[in-house]
Parts: sequence; C-alpha cells; structure tokens
Amino acid sequence: MNTDQFLVKSDLKYIDKASFTWQTPSNIALIKYWGKSNPQIPKNASISFTLNNCHTITTINFERKLHSELVSESHQNIDFDLLFEGKPKEEFKPKIAEFFKRVQEYCPYIFNYKMIINSENSFPHSSGIASSASGLSAIAMCLMSLEKEINVDLSQEFINKKASFLARLGSGSASRSIEGPLVVWGNHPEIEGSSDLFGVQFPHKVNAIFENYQDVILLVDKGEKQVSSTIGHNLMINHPYAENRFTQANENLTKMSKILQHGNIKEFINLVEREALTLHAMMMTSNPYFILMKPNTLEIINKIWEYRQEKNSNICFTLDAGANVHVLFPENEKENVLQFIDSELSIFCQKKQYICDNIGLGAKILTP
Ligand code: PMV
Repeated sequence: MNTDQFLVKSDLKYIDKASFTWQTPSNIALIKYWGKSNPQIPKNASISFTLNNCHTITTINFERKLHSELVSESHQNIDFDLLFEGKPKEEFKPKIAEFFKRVQEYCPYIFNYKMIINSENSFPHSSGIASSASGLSAIAMCLMSLEKEINVDLSQEFINKKASFLARLGSGSASRSIEGPLVVWGNHPEIEGSSDLFGVQFPHKVNAIFENYQDVILLVDKGEKQVSSTIGHNLMINHPYAENRFTQANENLTKMSKILQHGNIKEFINLVEREALTLHAMMMTSNPYFILMKPNTLEIINKIWEYRQEKNSNICFTLDAGANVHVLFPENEKENVLQFIDSELSIFCQKKQYICDNIGLGAKILTP
C-alpha cells in the first residue's frame, strides 16, 4: 500500500498564523465495517450514506512557534488546547493527542504550530451518536487547509484523499465523512479506485429513488456505550465467524453496488437490515459477548416491520454500534413516515428525542 504519496516532500513556506473552520458530517454505514488490523486497515470494504444535519464544526487556530520554543523543546512536542463548545475539555484530549501522534509522520508541520481547537456538534452531547467520524474528519480538513497554505500546489482531489487518509487513522469510519453522498472505504475489486487507506465516492450513477434519502435517528439510549468500538473491533480477532463475515461483507458490497444503481428498493431493505443485524450478531457471538441493543431498540424494529407490512412502505432500519435506530426511507414517504415516527416510535426514545436527517454531500469550509 502506497502511503508515501501522503508524506510531505516539498519545502514548506511557513506562515505565522492561520485559522480554518470546517463543518464535517457523520455517516451511517449500509455495509458495515467491523474488524480491523493495524494501522486502521479494515478487514472488509464498507459503504455509507453521508449525513447532512448531524455534523461537527471545528475551528483550528494555528500560531507558529518561535524558533527559541522549537529548539528549547528537548523532544518534538505537539502543542494543542481543546475547547468544546467554547470550554476546555480535558477528557477529549487523549484521543486527539493519539490522533496527532498517528498523523505526525504525514503532517510534520504540526510540530511548528501551537493549535487551539474549538469544536461543537449539531447533535446533542452524549446522544449516543458517535462524534468521532465528524470530529476527526473536521480536524483532518483543518490540517489539510493549513497544508495547502504552506505547500501551495495541492489539488482539491488530493486534499480530500489525504484528509480521508488522516481521518481514518483517528477512527476508521471517519474516512467516510469527507465526501458524499455515498462513500466506499476498503479495497474492493468492483469499486474503481477503492482503497484500505481512504474513502472514495461511490463511482456509479445512483438510481433516483435514493436521491435525498431520509434518515431519522431515534435516540433510544443516550448513555455511554458499555463496550467501545475499539474493543468491539478487537473481539473480531479469533472470532469464530470472522472470516465468513469479512467475505460476506465484501459480497454484500457487490450486491449493494448493483442495488444502488438499479434502484431495487426491496432488495435494499433486505440487505440493509441484514447488515445491521449481522453486525450485532457478531457482538453477541464475541468472547466476551455483549449486547448494545436495548429493549426499546427491538420494540422499534418490530413496529417498523409492522408498519412496512401494513402500509406497503419502503421504510427500513439500520444500527451502528449502539442502541439508537436509524430509520431510512425515500423522500416521497417523508410526510407519512414522520407522522408514524412521532406518534408511534418516539415513545421508545429517551425524552421522545429523535433527529431528522438526510443524505449530505460531505465537508464544507466555513472560513470566509
Ligand atoms: O470507526 P469506528 O472504529 O468507530 O467503527 C465504526 C463501526 C460501525 O459504526 C459499527 C460500522 C461502520 O462501518 O460505521
């Protein structure tokens, strides 16, 4: 795998100060990534819808260190402060420090700057929606904006590719949060240009039924997950069904690619729900085993199945590594489905909370 392309080779024209603000989205996988090897290499390819409303907005202020500061540091030091919604957030710092450590080889200029990171999410804090995908992709885009300023000749295509590459080193699924509306991450023979190192836009024309597809996220459990994704991924090592699962996921991506192009919505529903339940089946059959779904997750799934049957609807669900349910449906069913969610599903959500989202196009710069 050619990671050399992401090293900085030319001489850098350092500037004293810069500030960039990026808004980057969360994403929801249709074909799931679960299982990886070092460094953040997925065991199978995955594909996700990029979201629109669930996003992080991050500003990084870069201030060049003085020469005396650089030479007085006995070893190279990555210097940053972190604010979340304007207030210092010490507990988020270790994850970001680890991210900078992983990317320092590819972004050596970070040693030359003091960074103040100011971040906020559009979704409620600890809503059970993972903020790592949107959060790390936003930091990656800010780093790439700086890299462009000091290393002028970078194409937008390269910037997106490297941002996805960097974001992946922080959290695998973050590699799918730079572009949209559909992103594939992981090398797959039928997706041209696909790579284990970064996400790429789904390269084929997608059927109109999937345009502006809707995702309502039902907040079933807003608490901290009992088992983190990192632990979950590691439990796929020596998992009795792992190899079959990785093969199945790659085959499912081939199927999903055809479905997205031809617009067979019944097959879409079947495959998306099968993927969600297979992901959770992997968790339930790990050793140690664990269950992230809650009783209300199952109540909602059953209600969705009943509604689909009764109304001949094309609503379906998917899950990420948590208890919340993503309700997916075509835009032409929006009015009816929103009514159904409000009257029959919101009672299973904490404080009746849910978030209405739809497919988005990826990262946006907000710096004037
Ligand atoms: O990116 P991570 O390490 O948080 O893993 C995410 C895994 C799932 O959300 C469960 C599936 C996916 O492909 O997004």
